[in-house]
Amino acid sequence: TILIVDFGAQYTQLIARRVREAGVYCEIAPFNKAAEALARLAPKGIILSGGPASVAEAGTPRIDEAVFAAQVPLLGICYGQQAMCAQLGGSVTAPEHREFGRAFVEVTDDCPLFGGVWAPGAREQVWMSHGDHVDRLPPGFRAVGVSDGAPFAAICDEARGYYGVQFHPEVSHTPHGGALLRNFVRNVCGCAGDWTMAAFRAQAIAGIRAQVGQGRVICGLSGGVDSSVAAVLIHEAIGDQLTCVFVDHGLMRAGEADEVVTLFRDHYNIPLVHRDASGLFLGELAGVTDPEAKRKTIGRLFIDVFEAEAKAVGGADFLAQGTLYPDVIESVSFHGGPSVTIKSHHNVGGLPERMNMKLVEPLRELFKDEVRDLGRELGLPERLVGRHPFPGPGLAIRIPGEITKEKCDLLRKVDAIYLEEIRNAGLYDAIWQAFAVLLPVRTVGVMGDARTYDHACALRAVTSTDGMTADVFPFDHALLGRMATRIINEVRGINRVTYDITSKPPGTIEWE
Ligand code: XMP
Repeated sequence: TILIVDFGAQYTQLIARRVREAGVYCEIAPFNKAAEALARLAPKGIILSGGPASVAEAGTPRIDEAVFAAQVPLLGICYGQQAMCAQLGGSVTAPEHREFGRAFVEVTDDCPLFGGVWAPGAREQVWMSHGDHVDRLPPGFRAVGVSDGAPFAAICDEARGYYGVQFHPEVSHTPHGGALLRNFVRNVCGCAGDWTMAAFRAQAIAGIRAQVGQGRVICGLSGGVDSSVAAVLIHEAIGDQLTCVFVDHGLMRAGEADEVVTLFRDHYNIPLVHRDASGLFLGELAGVTDPEAKRKTIGRLFIDVFEAEAKAVGGADFLAQGTLYPDVIESVSFHGGPSVTIKSHHNVGGLPERMNMKLVEPLRELFKDEVRDLGRELGLPERLVGRHPFPGPGLAIRIPGEITKEKCDLLRKVDAIYLEEIRNAGLYDAIWQAFAVLLPVRTVGVMGDARTYDHACALRAVTSTDGMTADVFPFDHALLGRMATRIINEVRGINRVTYDITSKPPGTIEWE
């Protein structure tokens, strides 16, 4: 086990992720709970994260003495390195020259942290984000890397197994940073590197059992990867104490509702309430054209229906959700931060308080691709595990203007052909999200010598790592042409196809 002591960095979960990628189990503890976590875990090594404070100022977080007393290897990153140096007899200053963003570290000497991956003389690209830096090393340390803004960009004291880096090895902008973290946990700390998703599964199951006890859990299924993986995992932990509820708002893609119901009921034998509420949703959405009004209407109805179904099965003590780590960060800035609300995301927010339920969120620490790995580990079908994200309000936000059942049916047909072509071209997994949008305009066309006056649609496909930023997927023109021809030939009511070439920002991924 590795303990990560968190000083409030943005990237702490990424450190954890890199450690997991190296096949080593880790836990994160806030800096003021480090002593307790150390006693409980007896880790083979400790990583000290970055953080927003300044070591040069009084009253800012310090490393608990228990960390040094543990006599295990330490790796300090950014603030962690500075705090380590300040507390061991070195010093930290706030210089004129600050370093933010891409920088280069010149490797000046070898050390076990570099382990041959970073060789003396090499210039390694790194990601920096610091105002302060170490300006005097504590006794026992030597410098092994230097950058323009940090004379001690990488330092080590091999005798004690203490290492420090000013840059962030955990982010993707430090291309060979993962190798350093791997060297630290495997070579320096001596962790075996045999931890896998199977181990995560076992630990998560134990955690769910401990949290839930004999309580009853209810889980809202959406048909997406996250809620499905959470449900299967929880079912494995507590069996029939779990009930799943699938609220079908009639705004799903073609065949999706059936797939969910069949998979859970027949394949996994998980109790599932399937409530077809499409009439209710479409009825309430009649005449609603404003995007935010659509989202709010759907969010409100969803909670009402879910609550009624939950009560009908006798209520529950816990609500299970497939919340992922990026959702945690995003919703924090959504609700607490200074950022403006671009779109109100729809989830079951507000329900736990209303129904007096506690939350079970076994995927809270994972990133999307890790959830997919866990899904594979649980034996979920690849088609579900690899599925593109789909927004809670469904097709409603892909039909600008008023929503009707006819329009939903039309869009489902277009979307199914588009996705089939993408799968046939072998491109599905290279794309983060692909979907069709039904445009609220009619255009003139000519088919078989006759005039047509039908709907136009737009196709969208983007690449992204977390949905926060996105690039347009560069389809080959011939493929786009084939897609357009098939859609127009096969879907009566569509006579024009456009391709959306807007990145995010300035666009968003969805149209509403
Ligand atoms: P935007 O359109 O904001 O979308 O660029 C970013 C990602 O979030 C998805 N999305 C949602 N997911 N409920 C969800 O669960 C929502 O209300 C919602 N709105 C957007 C979107 O599909 C993309 O993956």
